[in-house]
Amino acid sequence: MALVQETLILVLLTFSTWCFSTSISTNSSTTTSLAKLPNATTAKPKRLVTKLIHQRSVHHPHYNQSETAKERIELDIQHSIARVTYLHARIEDHSSASGTLAYETLVFETSDEGSIQIPNIEFGCGRDIVYNNDPGYNGILGLNNAPMSLASQIGHKFSYCIGSLADKSSNYNQLILGEGADLEGYPTHFQALRGMYYITMEGISIGEKRLDIAPATFEIKENGAGGVIIDTGSTLTYLPDDVQNLLYKEVRNILGGSFRKVIIETYPWLYCYLGVVSRDLVGFPVVTFHFAQGADLALDTGSFFEQLTDSVFCMAIGPVSATGLDNRSSVIGLLAQQSYNVGYDLVNQIVYFQRIDCQLLSG
Ligand SMILES: *[C@@H]1O[C@H](CO)[C@@H](O)[C@H](O)[C@H]1NC(C)=O
Ligand SMILES: *[C@@H]1O[C@H](CO)[C@@H](O)[C@H](O)[C@H]1NC(C)=O
Ligand SMILES: *[C@@H]1O[C@H](CO)[C@@H](O)[C@H](O)[C@H]1NC(C)=O
Ligand SMILES: *[C@@H]1O[C@H](CO)[C@@H](O)[C@H](O)[C@H]1NC(C)=O
Repeated sequence: MALVQETLILVLLTFSTWCFSTSISTNSSTTTSLAKLPNATTAKPKRLVTKLIHQRSVHHPHYNQSETAKERIELDIQHSIARVTYLHARIEDHSSASGTLAYETLVFETSDEGSIQIPNIEFGCGRDIVYNNDPGYNGILGLNNAPMSLASQIGHKFSYCIGSLADKSSNYNQLILGEGADLEGYPTHFQALRGMYYITMEGISIGEKRLDIAPATFEIKENGAGGVIIDTGSTLTYLPDDVQNLLYKEVRNILGGSFRKVIIETYPWLYCYLGVVSRDLVGFPVVTFHFAQGADLALDTGSFFEQLTDSVFCMAIGPVSATGLDNRSSVIGLLAQQSYNVGYDLVNQIVYFQRIDCQLLSG
């Protein structure tokens, strides 16, 4: 069991395929066979389930007890910037990767304590990844719609459920690959470009108030710039600078004079206040991202804000300019997708958002 389970645990779920990017320089393929496992079957799998363990979780093998919440979140911010910078480099075609490509046998445990082996999965490991300046990654799981991604090789559907990342002991976040993925809830079409899933964002509301944002703001431009990518490799969400600023103005109006603003020197673009999200923001309105075909992603305070230290919280939305590259696209990150099961149908190009407690889906 060890190999596969560990590999998947270490991976922070993302849609990129660094390992299979444009310029793969590969030697002869290596094949690693796992020891024969009892009761393993090689039947065509329908529903492969694996736990997703975030780096902040006590269940993560690299969980560091002495790391403070602030240190963890600063790492998250660094990862997010690195991730979004990398996505933008892909859009501008500056990115490339080289590494080793191999065939692997993946082994998944089944709920009845058996296991399923899937042989001959093309699997890659990127060594030299241009525009990856993030030292924190252990690996990237390819979930895009290209033929070589894991998602395409195993089935043409997948879904993931992300509960509360602040709950370090929760153990119900999971990824399902294959026909049996959970595709429920509100559908919206996606367009896969350069291995990224673009969805059509139509607006943002705070409570009942729809923000005054021109619909063209989120469109993909002729030169490939713009658009809205849904991603799990970035923790934060990045929106066009004026949209982020507009959101902030609304937040400031709602919070009024009762909260003191805090400037974080390293990230002056983060909007932060003195206070505790769970104690002081009770009753703060839900922020809703609206997508085509009527699909919504509702962000409660735990998804829209992030507690940076015991006494400082920040809006978990950054401006795309923070990544420093041009051709900016918005990125909807992992915090915004908390409390949701998100399903992808790669054949029909539909993503589904279902607000749910992941515990109800696990098992
Ligand atoms: C990969 O290629 C390099 C350079 O050609 C060679 O030195 C090395 O032995 C090769 N490794 C394998 C596993 O074939
Ligand atoms: C696995 O195989 C062993 C021995 O072949 C058998 O005793 C056991 O019941 C099997 N377990 C399952 C879950 O099929
Ligand atoms: C754990 O976190 C502490 C505090 O940030 C740090 O000094 C230490 O190097 C970390 N340990 C590991 C193994 O990363
Ligand atoms: C944006 O991307 C397009 C096509 O990908 C490219 O032609 C253009 O030069 C890029 N613009 C900038 C400012 O990088």
